[in-house]
Amino acid sequence: MTQDLRGILLSGGAGTRLHPVTISMSKQLMPVYDKPMVYYPLTTLMLAGIRDILVITTPRDQQAYRSLLGDGSQWGVSLVYAVQQEPRGIAEAFLIGRSFIGHRPVALILGDNIFYAQGFSEKLQQVARPAQGATVFGYWVRDPERYGVASFDADGHVTKIVEKPERPDSHYAITGLYFYDGDVVGITEELQPSGRGELEITDVNRAYLERGDLRVELLGRGTAWLDTGTHDSLLDAANFVRVIEKRQGLKIACPEEIAFRMRFIDEQQLERLADACGASGYADYLRAVLREPVPVSE
Ligand code: DAU
Repeated sequence: MTQDLRGILLSGGAGTRLHPVTISMSKQLMPVYDKPMVYYPLTTLMLAGIRDILVITTPRDQQAYRSLLGDGSQWGVSLVYAVQQEPRGIAEAFLIGRSFIGHRPVALILGDNIFYAQGFSEKLQQVARPAQGATVFGYWVRDPERYGVASFDADGHVTKIVEKPERPDSHYAITGLYFYDGDVVGITEELQPSGRGELEITDVNRAYLERGDLRVELLGRGTAWLDTGTHDSLLDAANFVRVIEKRQGLKIACPEEIAFRMRFIDEQQLERLADACGASGYADYLRAVLREPVPVSE
């Protein structure tokens, strides 16, 4: 059903807010508790049923991503790579990925966005069904001025989207996960860089809004959309993952497990992945998944 939908994982950027830890290392490769940050958005795409994924990195970091993620076949997905020479904006992903996307629908996720929610996989798979227009997600935050912000009329229809407004009209931040139809490349080609010299994802969303083709799905308060933009929020995200994983004994964003539950790989493949992890707790976990299958959504 989502066969045609492609995914882009954008993992470039300068990471300056996390200096000095990101001076020599990509922010999105840093650990969030027990796994690299990029596993979280990658598995979000997998949970949406997406198996063809373009990973965009800085030129410097591409090799590190390749050695971490490979070609994706171990998880039953296809990963291909491209570089963004300079951080010229999130929407530049669609120009870099022009030939990868073609005229297909595409989902874009930012390499530092972490989602965790009951029923999120089902929601993603609904949104991922090929449809006209764009779908983005709104999430209530305390500090909306740090994000793209959506405004709504009395009937709950989105009326405006503004990037980092000084005086936000609402508390709804637009998260870094976006679904677009096959027009997104053409729309991005028409964009001009913003005042800060970037091709803004908010301008892409505004173009869809002006066509009457933008849906904003609100994520409820039972959803965790975690920030990794500062040292404190990165530590908070790691602690969040640790608390949930310790309590349940189930991992968040384990690509081997998700590939198995999504039926991208079979039991024998999962067993081989466990064997490849040696005598680690991670290997024990993968073997436990084989013994006690829990449905993906629970
Ligand atoms: O996280 C959601 C927010 O992401 C949205 O609400 C905003 O509308 C959107 O502009 C973006 O805001 P940020 O301030 O978080 O954008 P930032 O420049 O920090 O980039 C987000 C991630 O994307 C970051 O991990 C680096 C990556 N990136 C960013 C740019 C501008 C790239 O890979 N290339 C780029 O050119």
